[in-house]
Amino acid sequence: MKEPEFQVNESLMLTREEEEILSGKHGEAKAKALEVIIRVAESLDAKRLVRIKHAHISGVSYGTIGEPGLAFIKELSSLGAKVSVPSSLNPIGFDESNPFDQEVLYITQDFYRGQMEILENLKKMGIDLLLTCTPYYTTIFRKYGLRSGDHVAWGESSAVAYANSFLGLRTNREGGPLALMAAIAGRTYYYGMHIRENRVPRVKYVVDLNGLGYNEVTLSLVAEYIASIHEDESPPLLHLDPRNINETTKREIAATLGAAGNIAMIAIPGITKEAEQADIRKTIRIKNNIIIARYKELAQDQGIDPDYYFIGCPHTSEEELEILSKIKSGDKLIVTLSRDVYSRRKDLVQKLVDKGATVLRSTCLIVSNLRSKNIMIATNSYKAYFYLTRKGINVSLIDIKSMIERLGG
Ligand code: F3S
Repeated sequence: MKEPEFQVNESLMLTREEEEILSGKHGEAKAKALEVIIRVAESLDAKRLVRIKHAHISGVSYGTIGEPGLAFIKELSSLGAKVSVPSSLNPIGFDESNPFDQEVLYITQDFYRGQMEILENLKKMGIDLLLTCTPYYTTIFRKYGLRSGDHVAWGESSAVAYANSFLGLRTNREGGPLALMAAIAGRTYYYGMHIRENRVPRVKYVVDLNGLGYNEVTLSLVAEYIASIHEDESPPLLHLDPRNINETTKREIAATLGAAGNIAMIAIPGITKEAEQADIRKTIRIKNNIIIARYKELAQDQGIDPDYYFIGCPHTSEEELEILSKIKSGDKLIVTLSRDVYSRRKDLVQKLVDKGATVLRSTCLIVSNLRSKNIMIATNSYKAYFYLTRKGINVSLIDIKSMIERLGG
């Protein structure tokens, strides 16, 4: 049994079951996980905890967390930690089907050992090795009966913004370890995006992209701008004709909000339920020329031939595989996707591979090691731009439609 010294702030209401967990009745690991959630709840002045239906755990690449992260996971595992709710994992540091292929990525034996130990220990806890940052493109909704309005604890910022904005799920931006604690405890702190009123937008952004067009790149630059100026605690409302937004655009907007700022949700009329309940107190018009100038700055490869074209940050959807499969030459194309989408659409993957494309599953160019840094990558992902440029790689933005045209599609 757990020692009784753990004190809980009186302003935090715990249920009888939570008291029991804390007492150690459900095991030491679950008690410890709940203690962490409680400390976070207290620091935020949350009044209670909330049960979650799913957790998605990020920060599991050995390249990102290294030996300290592995040691933390091993220690939890040695306490007999098990997840209390269905839980899934973000991408790892290599393509699991071909870890040592060095054409694009590069790992050492030590990296491989560390990554496999991380996976082994997390699997022992009962976590589904989904290995993707787009759990929403997999079968988890059907499998676990997730529905709009459900509380979850997700730790991948792009998936968090997507879940809140486009799926109606409720989650804060959790750090990877905290999402893991929530998975073990089966609950998280009732705060932020879990509370209905906090999801009601109060600031409206209006943008007119005539002259530039609406696609995942231009709208990501809008999202980047919003992330840089949005100060209100409520989610921003982006006033746009929903016909100007497709699936790729939604995903890239969400990823941009996560990379460029700290925003966990955006509301778009006709797409996001909470947009209908908006209580707008301020309207900000985004000047077209700001986005045009930024576009010119980041779409640097005009006239230059990149070494690679990259699609799949966040991981590619089936629909994108469909349109990509129409290209003539894939010699320069790298696609990253989940093992789930891979196995469902092996036919399309094969078409791409036959055309010379490199298709990597369960990883991405950011959480792995690129073999060479002296390269130029053209991608439709602002998030990839954001992180790859920080690794010293030249990156330019290009929307998927233009990319396909260049590749002969
Ligand atoms: Fe996913 Fe890697 Fe981008 S984990 S969101 S593809 S940085």
